[in-house]
Amino acid sequence: MPKLTVINRAGEESTIDADTGLSVMEAIRDNGFDELLALCGGCCSCATCHVHVDAAWVDKLPAISADEDDLLDSSDHRNETSRLSCQIQLTDALDGLKVAIAPED
Ligand code: FES
Repeated sequence: MPKLTVINRAGEESTIDADTGLSVMEAIRDNGFDELLALCGGCCSCATCHVHVDAAWVDKLPAISADEDDLLDSSDHRNETSRLSCQIQLTDALDGLKVAIAPED
């Protein structure tokens, strides 16, 4: 069961146990973080699941799709570590992943 560290918008860090097979968005949402709206439910059409990935993990994630890339462009808070958390599936290889919930657009 991979551990996932989440930093909320207040800068508070929490580590949760997440099931493999869930997306990072589902793991965050299911653990009571109400800042991550995930309005589209994970079908890559809202960008309200935007996170900033810890720099040490950026290169370990699956490649960004064209759709994800386009949606992230709609955010004023995109940076080089931005991802949509619904597009990252948790695996044991991602044990220890750390993400910060991006500011609201
Ligand atoms: S939940 Fe809508 S794009 Fe991720």
